[in-house]
Amino acid sequence: MNYLIMKWLQKFGFKSLIDLGCRSNSAGARLFEQRGKSRGFKPNDSYISKKFGYEWSIYPEIIPSHRDQFSGWISPFTLEAFKGKRFLDAGCGIGRNSLWPLEAGATSAYVFDFDQKTVQVAKNNLKNFPHCQVGFDSIYDVRFVNEFDIAFCIGVIHHLERPKEAVKKLLETVKPNGHLILWVYAREGNERFLLWFDPLRKFVTSHLPVWANLWMARGFTLLLKTYLLFPHRKRYLNLLKTRSFRHMEALVFDQLIPSIAHYWTRHEVLQLADGLPVEVEHLTHTNQLSWTLILKKKI
Ligand SMILES: C[S@@+](CC[C@H](N)C(=O)[O-])C[C@H]1O[C@@H](n2cnc3c(N)ncnc32)[C@H](O)[C@@H]1O
Repeated sequence: MNYLIMKWLQKFGFKSLIDLGCRSNSAGARLFEQRGKSRGFKPNDSYISKKFGYEWSIYPEIIPSHRDQFSGWISPFTLEAFKGKRFLDAGCGIGRNSLWPLEAGATSAYVFDFDQKTVQVAKNNLKNFPHCQVGFDSIYDVRFVNEFDIAFCIGVIHHLERPKEAVKKLLETVKPNGHLILWVYAREGNERFLLWFDPLRKFVTSHLPVWANLWMARGFTLLLKTYLLFPHRKRYLNLLKTRSFRHMEALVFDQLIPSIAHYWTRHEVLQLADGLPVEVEHLTHTNQLSWTLILKKKI
């Protein structure tokens, strides 16, 4: 790919294709450097966050079904367990997970994301809770030690370049005897998805501009909604039937954009906690598609 093609791709928003080129040639590297200087742009976690930032600018609203969704992701932990507690929400997105623990009586919280626009959306969504501080931060740099009763990180670790380092860092923020809750994608239960759909994300959609993914998400959601009109035995498919078109569109869009998406086996998830001072309290195969790992920090 030469410099002019790169310029053209940049003009029409194909940033990810440029990044692909950047890894392998000097024209790409030159353009990348220029762009980096002018926009503070890096092809790493901050780039992934920017893509999610676009997602949250399209779907900024918190809806009642996010409550059930969050309760499912932290189960068997409960919302009631947050009462009187200080918590951390790492990679908070629009704040759709933090709202419910705050309503359940958490005393204070620090919730953060690595994208400025996303932080603004979360601030707006959580503005009725002055004891909740919303910040711009990266998981790798978060500077609290032994501070929170509960830290949770929902749907973030599997998109990171250094997941194990992130888990170690998050655990540092938790008080002894406190809990760290992680929700990540599972390999088990997603075998067919990984065979047919994930290559599409890896090799095509994650390299397309976000607006193209938005239209693809709408198309896929239409197909999925049609498929869901038929009777199904799988619990998760029946759960999806209850979701609105827009909620499902956001779920599909979320699958199309990330350049990193790990689907871990049970063993690999447990390895995230290897060597850390923790007791594994629960490891649940949530909806038979994902893992909820609940760690208790040892004294
Ligand atoms: C799939 S979204 C999940 C958001 C939220 N936890 C939820 O469930 O709604 C992943 C989020 O992680 C954020 N993120 C990515 N890398 C991060 C990092 N290094 N530190 C903090 N947040 C990060 C992204 O900006 C994005 O909002």
